[in-house]
Amino acid sequence: MARVTLTQYLLEQQRSHYKVSPGLRLLIEVVARACKMISHHVNKGQLSGIGDVVGNTNVQGEAQKRLDVVANEVLVEANEWGGQLAAMVSEEMDGPYIVPNRYPRGQYLLLMDPLDGSSNLDVNGTVGTIFSVLRYQDDDREPEERSFLQPGSSQVAAGFALYGPSTVLVLTVGNGTVGFTLDKELGSFVMTQPSIRIPEDTSEFAINASNARHWEPPVKRYIDECLAGKTGPRERDFNMRWVASMVGDIYRILCRGGVFMYPRDAKRKDGRLRLMYEANPMAFIIEQAGGAATDGVNRLLDLQPTALHQRIGVVMGSKNEVERIASYHQD
Ligand code: F6P
Repeated sequence: MARVTLTQYLLEQQRSHYKVSPGLRLLIEVVARACKMISHHVNKGQLSGIGDVVGNTNVQGEAQKRLDVVANEVLVEANEWGGQLAAMVSEEMDGPYIVPNRYPRGQYLLLMDPLDGSSNLDVNGTVGTIFSVLRYQDDDREPEERSFLQPGSSQVAAGFALYGPSTVLVLTVGNGTVGFTLDKELGSFVMTQPSIRIPEDTSEFAINASNARHWEPPVKRYIDECLAGKTGPRERDFNMRWVASMVGDIYRILCRGGVFMYPRDAKRKDGRLRLMYEANPMAFIIEQAGGAATDGVNRLLDLQPTALHQRIGVVMGSKNEVERIASYHQD
């Protein structure tokens, strides 16, 4: 079977489907190259002290680990000079990083969570990089925070790399969701899932159950009904999984269905995950694979962001389950 690389896929999207401009294609290739470098660092594990706390706190108030910092630097350095970007924002930086004047300024904005799930670093668990791309709309003005505050439906591409037993890259450019696996001998991402489809129904859910006492009634009702199994209202048994890195949980759902929830609750009234760096890119990927993504009630991609580091409640995955949870909220 002929192997299709990421480059070939992107060229095909550019030439035949007009989904990707030459600039966007180059930008995605550079992000993918940076992900290969991050994958290399992750693989070194404790040999290079990747999970050591470096003593800084990021804008989210979380202690940064060595690899959080390294992954952010790798992405910034790889992307600043290529001429496709006007600015970047990252979960690890307070404000926008404007492309320095010595480099040409492009028409896109890059948003990234350089190392998602970094609490898994100490235990050699799955971590990843999430990214998305927006158009830079005010190209006569200096980019600023406001330039990034576009609803998720404006994203032109989104993806994530998962650094697990193998390194995987999942991508959407608005024409379905595709998966690639890194062939380390060739150094290329090779297409391994040409068209990912999430089953509409599922019997598997992912939630951090230690927060149960804080949950709002609709979430509690949904989980209680799942736990009641065959003899409960759902009349079937459910399974539970929690990787504690969003990339790991979402990748599983892309592979075999399921619902992922980090809802807002009495303790985290605004939710836990970030709208711009986690929720929106994943919502685009999930919808393009036939799933649904909400904040519990509203479609995530319709929300107008109000701040770069805004948090949000998240319910995403198999369509019928996500809709059921929304209907419980409406009840
Ligand atoms: O935002 C970071 C993150 O690590 C997500 O990737 C993951 O889903 C979640 O936090 C894990 O949260 P908890 O620490 O509550 O299990």
